[in-house]
Amino acid sequence: MMKWWQKTIAYELYPKSFLDTAGNGTGTIRGIIQKLDYLASLGVGAVWMTPVCRSPMIDNGYDIADYCSIDPSYGTMDDMKELISEAKKRGIRIVIDLVFNHSSDQNPWFLESKQSRDNPKSDWYIWRDAKDGKEPTNWRGIFGGSAWTWCEERQQYYLHTFAAQQPDLNWANPEVRRALYDAANFWVDLGAGGFRIDAITYVKKPDVFTDGEPDGDDGMVSVHDMTANQPGILDYLHEFKREVADGHDIFTVAEANGVSADELKYWVGKDGAFDMLFEFSHVNLEFKGIETWCRPDPWTISDLKRVLRDSQDATKDNGWYPIFFENHDKPRSIDHYFPSCSNPLSAAKALGCLLMTLRGTPFLFQGEELGYRNVAFPSIDDYNDISSHGQYDFALSEGFSEKEALACVHRFSRDSARTPMQWDASENAGFTAGTPWLPVHPDYKTVNVKALAEDPRSILNWYRKLAELRRDHPALTEGTWIEVLPDDPDIIAYRRVCDTEDLSILINLTEDRITDLPLGSCESILLNNKNDYERGCLRPLQCVILKM
Ligand code: GLC
Repeated sequence: MMKWWQKTIAYELYPKSFLDTAGNGTGTIRGIIQKLDYLASLGVGAVWMTPVCRSPMIDNGYDIADYCSIDPSYGTMDDMKELISEAKKRGIRIVIDLVFNHSSDQNPWFLESKQSRDNPKSDWYIWRDAKDGKEPTNWRGIFGGSAWTWCEERQQYYLHTFAAQQPDLNWANPEVRRALYDAANFWVDLGAGGFRIDAITYVKKPDVFTDGEPDGDDGMVSVHDMTANQPGILDYLHEFKREVADGHDIFTVAEANGVSADELKYWVGKDGAFDMLFEFSHVNLEFKGIETWCRPDPWTISDLKRVLRDSQDATKDNGWYPIFFENHDKPRSIDHYFPSCSNPLSAAKALGCLLMTLRGTPFLFQGEELGYRNVAFPSIDDYNDISSHGQYDFALSEGFSEKEALACVHRFSRDSARTPMQWDASENAGFTAGTPWLPVHPDYKTVNVKALAEDPRSILNWYRKLAELRRDHPALTEGTWIEVLPDDPDIIAYRRVCDTEDLSILINLTEDRITDLPLGSCESILLNNKNDYERGCLRPLQCVILKM
């Protein structure tokens, strides 16, 4: 029996950039309530909101100062309750982002912990003495610089996998885990439909902290390589499942960078800790090791095809997969996969077809349904994203020029995913009556919900069509996934088969190849992003869904 979240379409919403109803330049919960009908028109049944809890916003809400609160910039807890109930009326459930690896340094837990070495919360974070008057290890934080920051009060360092203002919680302490589960249960009681669990691979620390082999001229090594996915981590995560998820009609999707396809069964298989897991092999093709923007590796469509196959195969008989090409941490998919594409609309449609027809729950990211493109702000000072600054500084320290470092930021910055939602062609794209916290993309006069809704050939209407197909064709949700043409280097082709239907999906992600594929005939063509389709012949960036 399939669960509701396996049949639906999920939408990741970046509240700060969605719709501002207060005129402050940042989105509000009331803005989301206003646009629920829009989300319903996309067939969305689950909305994952990035964090809206009280936060100093060093990392746009991923630094939480109170796990059971709403940041005043977003509105009130009453607004949140109204959102949950209004969404429910439209068949939409609200998914909460749990940031449990770390808190804000302004969280009262940390403020207490840092006071002394013997206060009741002294062991709630990861504290270590200096080593020879310096940091305890040579680990580099994910946003750059040392992963350790000195605390005067305690005369000790604390560990932060991300920014200095995001101290890591000590999961080895059962009181910490209890407090986190209680916070999650607060949201279950409020009516949350599920959880996205942030940066979960870092919660279990190694037993012994040692220096690593430096991977850069700064003499440091990425904290990821030293601490991610430690043995025993799944014990904690199963405990989370028992204490929070079990017994409720909700889903959990963990952000778990670095979990490989063959480990997926332990994480999301029938005895796994979560329902789904975001891993990044298909969106990090240019980073074979850690994500270093100034040193991307080359990749091809064959690589993309291979990693998509790996995750489909790994969850085929055991587990479920969240399909995504964009999120709030990644560049826009058209620019990412097709950096110099002459036909971005076809490219976006082909990717959309893949997103909505692979086996799993599609996660559409705000703006993806409008075919959003990357932004290129003129100076590093125009960027808000903390990781863009860290990567820029790192590139300079590795000998790149300012121009080169800025080019890396243009290519990979997280701000490209975070520019305001473009509702219409009015000033600030209808996002705010104030000054937007991040500039609106200059293309908003033509790329906006109102204009695209009126154009039958637009990417927005393409997504609506795909949503209808998913609703009307059970093979697209419950069907098995069977690869066709596994040996073809770059044509992605598969069947989705259930008791009543057999559909073939053929996608040519190349920009120059015209194919002649050995394919049988079909009964009808359900979807096609070009005017015609001749059997076996796919033109560049063409995709079709065939009923066999
Ligand atoms: C996750 C979030 C990202 C955030 C980081 C630290 O990767 O997706 O936006 O910066 O965790 O919380």
